[in-house]
Amino acid sequence: MVSNKMVEQKGNILMKRYEIGKLLGQGSFAKVYHGRNVKNSQSVAIKVIDKEKILKSELMDQIRREISVMNLVRHPCIVQLYEVMATKSKIYFVLEYVKGGELFNKIRRGRLKEEVARKYFQQLISAIDFCHSRGVYHRDLKPENLLLDENRNLKISDFGLSAFAECKRQDGLLHTTCGTPAYVAPEVINRKGYDGAKADVWACGVILYVLLAGYLPFQDKNVMNMYKKICRAELKWPSWFPSDVRKLLRRILDPNPTTRISVSEIMENPWFRVGLDSDLLNKTIPTEDVIPVHMDSTSDHFTKNTNEEKQAAENLTSLNAFDIISLSSGFDLSGMFEDDNSKEEPKFTSTNTVVTITKKLEDVAKSLQLKFLKKSGGLLKMEGSKPGRKGVMSINAEIFQITPNFHLVEFTKTNGDTLEYQKVKQEMRPALKDIVWAWQGELPQPLNEQL
Ligand code: ADE
Repeated sequence: MVSNKMVEQKGNILMKRYEIGKLLGQGSFAKVYHGRNVKNSQSVAIKVIDKEKILKSELMDQIRREISVMNLVRHPCIVQLYEVMATKSKIYFVLEYVKGGELFNKIRRGRLKEEVARKYFQQLISAIDFCHSRGVYHRDLKPENLLLDENRNLKISDFGLSAFAECKRQDGLLHTTCGTPAYVAPEVINRKGYDGAKADVWACGVILYVLLAGYLPFQDKNVMNMYKKICRAELKWPSWFPSDVRKLLRRILDPNPTTRISVSEIMENPWFRVGLDSDLLNKTIPTEDVIPVHMDSTSDHFTKNTNEEKQAAENLTSLNAFDIISLSSGFDLSGMFEDDNSKEEPKFTSTNTVVTITKKLEDVAKSLQLKFLKKSGGLLKMEGSKPGRKGVMSINAEIFQITPNFHLVEFTKTNGDTLEYQKVKQEMRPALKDIVWAWQGELPQPLNEQL
C-alpha cells in the first residue's frame, strides 16, 4: 500500500520522483510545468489538474478519456503519456517533454516556407491517420496544440477533448461542439452531428493554410460573420500559394463533409508526397521501448516493479479501443446493442499495483466465502461454494493496465443466479474501497481514504 508520505508534494519534488520546475503553459483546469526525473535527470512535462475544479465541472470523464486516449496513441508525432499520479487534491500527468515550444510561436513571426510547412503537414497527417485508424479523433486541432521537439519535428499535444464514440448517436455521428471557432468545421458549427475524422481533416486544412499564409483563412471580428465565412468556405488565396496547394486546400476545406477529401486521399496527393519520409507513415513506438524507461529507472516503491509485479504485469491483457470506450460512463454504447447487459458489469479504476489489487480481491473473495482462483492471462475467478438454481455462481475479474500505476478492473458473471451475483456485487463495493479510485459512472472517492 502506498503511504501518505509517498504522494505528498514536498517543496517542489513530486512524490520523491520529479522535481517541478517552471510553468510552461496554463489552461482553465490545468497547468503544465517542466519536470525533472530525480533519478535520471530526464526532462518531462507535468500537467497538473486541480481535482476540485474538475469534480465540480463533470470533467472527470474527460480526464479518464485523456488517460485512455493517450495510452492508445503512441506515435513519434504524438506527445506521450508516461504516467498518472494523484494526490488528495490534484491529478498529475507525466508527459514527454517537448523542447521546441509551440509551432504557433513560429507563425507569430511570419509564414513558413512551403517545404517547412509541408514537412509539418506531413507529420500532422501521419499522426492523425494513426489516431483515426485506432478510432481516436482529436477534435481540437490548432497550432497551439502542436509542439516542436529539439529536431524541429512536430508533436501533437492535448488530447483532452478527443473522443471515441462518446457522443455517437444512432446515426454514427458525433454531437458535441468542441474546438476553437477558427479551426472548427462547418458541420460542427451547424450542430448537425459530425464525423470526427472529417472534422479533423478540416482543422488540418486550416492549419496548413495558416502555416503557409501566416494568418487564418476565415477571420472576422464578429464571430457570426466568421461562422458564415467558414460555412461558405469563403477562401481568398495569397498570391504566393502554389496552384497545387490551392487545389488540395479546396478539397480539404470543402464545407460538405461527405465530399471532403479523406486522410488516406490526402496521403496520395502529389503535393503532399513531395519529399515524404517513407518511414513516417509506418512509424509507431513499440511498447517495449517506452514503458521500461519509466519503470526500471526508478527505485521508490510507488512504481518500482518487483519480480512478482513484473510477472503480474506481463500477464495482463492490454486494453483494446472497445474496452476503453466502455471505461467511461460517457462512452455509453448500450443503445447500440439490443440485448445489452453491460451495465450489470461493474468496473473500477485503481492507482494500486496489480499485486495489491489481486491480494485485495483475494481477501475480499475469502471474506465473502468465495473460492478465489488465479488463471492465466491475468484473469481472476471467484466462485460460490454451493450451487444455486443455475449452478455455481462464478465471477471473472480482469485487470487491465492503462499506465504502469493505473489499472482497470472489470467483473463479469460467467455462471449462476443473477440475484446471488447482485448480492455479492453490493457487498464487494464497500469492501474494495481501499483500492478503488473510481467505479464506472461515479466520481472518484477521496484519495486520502486509499493512500
Ligand atoms: N506545453 C504543454 N505541453 C508540453 C509538453 N509536453 N512539453 C513542453 N511544453 C509543453
